[in-house]
Amino acid sequence: MHILGIDVGGTGIKAALVETKTGELLGEKIRIVTPHPATPAAIAATLRDLIAQQQWAGPVGIGFPAAIQHGVARTAANIDAAFIGLPVADYFSQQAGCPCHVANDADVAGLAEMRFGAGKGNAGVVLIVTIGTGLGTALFSDGKLMPNTELGHIRLENGYEAERYASEAVRITKKLKWKEWGERLNVYLTTMESLLWPDLIILGGGVSKKLGKFLPQISTKAPVVAAGFLNQAGIVGAALFAEREIARQS
Ligand code: BGC
Repeated sequence: MHILGIDVGGTGIKAALVETKTGELLGEKIRIVTPHPATPAAIAATLRDLIAQQQWAGPVGIGFPAAIQHGVARTAANIDAAFIGLPVADYFSQQAGCPCHVANDADVAGLAEMRFGAGKGNAGVVLIVTIGTGLGTALFSDGKLMPNTELGHIRLENGYEAERYASEAVRITKKLKWKEWGERLNVYLTTMESLLWPDLIILGGGVSKKLGKFLPQISTKAPVVAAGFLNQAGIVGAALFAEREIARQS
């Protein structure tokens, strides 16, 4: 099935057509800078723009940076607070004129990684951490997702909220060296390990391309690997989520 996958991030919104059978991107990936303030109307306008640029009129899957319970946004850490309680799937469908299926961005990245990427075939507990403006998490056991884990918001022993300490945004704004930032990420990952005991940790987001620069700082027992789709897991997974929803509804 061909589905337009869209990854809504804190800094950019990316869209590409996905072949869900293989996880391949068909055609060009288009990126538009996330509007600020990231209000529902502003995000909807950007989605409309991306869908038009892709000349698409079919189903759309959207990975969104919030807990999404049955199509309704429940949190808004790095987006406008007006999203809280909004039935985003219905709202975006109406605004975009295409059926939109919306789920948490880290959860959909996880779907892509478990089906085609670094978690493929892993029947144990797999933790996916997407590192960007925030820290997103997805947790799988025996290939099944437990949706909407918001574990980027846990408070670390040093008193910091995890995503205010170890996100990509923190690395950039504080101009941290890879080693310094790697040490911060290690505090987070070892904390997660002590709570969840995953068999595998997969890192997504832009930094997944730079794993070699900070892996020496990571001391978890579980292996830490880069997302097979690197920074594209969100787009592919959004399309996979939409495919799953379409099958469920029919
Ligand atoms: C949000 C999560 C999201 C993560 C990554 C966090 O601030 O609360 O829902 O998955 O950022 O975008």
